[in-house]
Amino acid sequence: MLKGKTVVLGVTGSIAAYKIVDLASSLKKLHADVHVIMTKNALNFITPITFETITGNKCLVDTFDRNFEFNVEHVSLAKKADIFLVAPASANVIGKIASGICDDMLTTTLFACTKKKLIAPAMNTNMYLNPILQDNLEKLKKYGYEIIEPADGILACGDTGKGRLVGVDVLLDRIIYHIGYDKDLKGKNVLISAGPTVEAIDPVRFITNHSSGKMGYSIANKAYLRGANVTIVSGPVKEKAYEGINIINITSAKSMFDVIKDNYKSFDYIIMAAAVADYTPISVAENKIKKSDSNLNLELTRTNDILKFLGENKLPNQKIIGFSMETENLIENSKAKLAKKNADMICANSINNKNTGFMVDTNLVTLIKKDEIKELPFDTKENIANGILDEIKTL
Ligand code: CTP
Repeated sequence: MLKGKTVVLGVTGSIAAYKIVDLASSLKKLHADVHVIMTKNALNFITPITFETITGNKCLVDTFDRNFEFNVEHVSLAKKADIFLVAPASANVIGKIASGICDDMLTTTLFACTKKKLIAPAMNTNMYLNPILQDNLEKLKKYGYEIIEPADGILACGDTGKGRLVGVDVLLDRIIYHIGYDKDLKGKNVLISAGPTVEAIDPVRFITNHSSGKMGYSIANKAYLRGANVTIVSGPVKEKAYEGINIINITSAKSMFDVIKDNYKSFDYIIMAAAVADYTPISVAENKIKKSDSNLNLELTRTNDILKFLGENKLPNQKIIGFSMETENLIENSKAKLAKKNADMICANSINNKNTGFMVDTNLVTLIKKDEIKELPFDTKENIANGILDEIKTL
């Protein structure tokens, strides 16, 4: 994913410096060319050899016994970088960067770098909340730096509060966001429904389905990485979405319908990847449900067909995409669904194979449009998500 990209990591003196070893390792696994610059203070917490072993590149520090040519190296690395992350960033280094002070390898290289620059502060909570530090961060934001805010928690000094370096996963996500994908969906508003719906039988019991939300969340995450403004209307799932994605949690088919009906006009693409119940027990409030522990005698009513509603009410230039889960006659049934629901594309899923459909990481999907049928290769849901997004751009 990061092949051909150069990531420069600036590490300052903080106990959290050890986390950057994991980050460097994760970046290498994604095939990035990783370079680390340490401040002198960082050497108190970690050794350059650790980074050199992981990255395969010389770790730059301000000690002349390490035989580097200061002037040449800092400029060439600044030019080579596709992104520069300072993490953990101490109050001291943030102050220097905000004031334009370049008195070591890290600050000099950063100053010469014209690409995206990220700062992830880590320090004692009172230092973090100090208005001088906050002013410095504001100044950096004004100049286009992205500040990755520290987390709350118990700090190395024993205090509790904001100041912990965020997790490696968050740092990795931000790097992938900036350099992992072309922003070919920039400016597009994408709404994705994902996961199961949950229909109450009575105040305690419910009916649901096996949808894990993996497919919908994969599409949402990829759309976000490709620059779209993404909203997920989500049933209860364990899947994770990038922080910049707006999530509206729902439970029943009715609550999903209500949210989508109220919001659908603001979106360019609406992708119904949720497994929505076709029927729901008649309202518990209406007291029509006979309680019986052994033999539930439910009266059911049809839910709103959300995809059909969207197809019938779509605005010009709005594209509506549905999913179809079929056990047989995949193509014919999906073609019929495309027409019946006035959708622009149906992503047809075969659920006969144990490696496709619900609860697994892989899928086999055929994309059905009015005048074209395209089978995507069997793949991970993440890669299939990219294939679906490539296709919606052609609608
Ligand atoms: N869908 C919906 N509202 C419903 C039921 C389904 O919007 N009440 C959407 C699903 O999110 C999916 C598509 O419709 O994108 C097709 O769902 P599926 O269950 O395969 O088909 P149904 O329309 O329910 O038709 P059938 O069960 O007869 O195959």
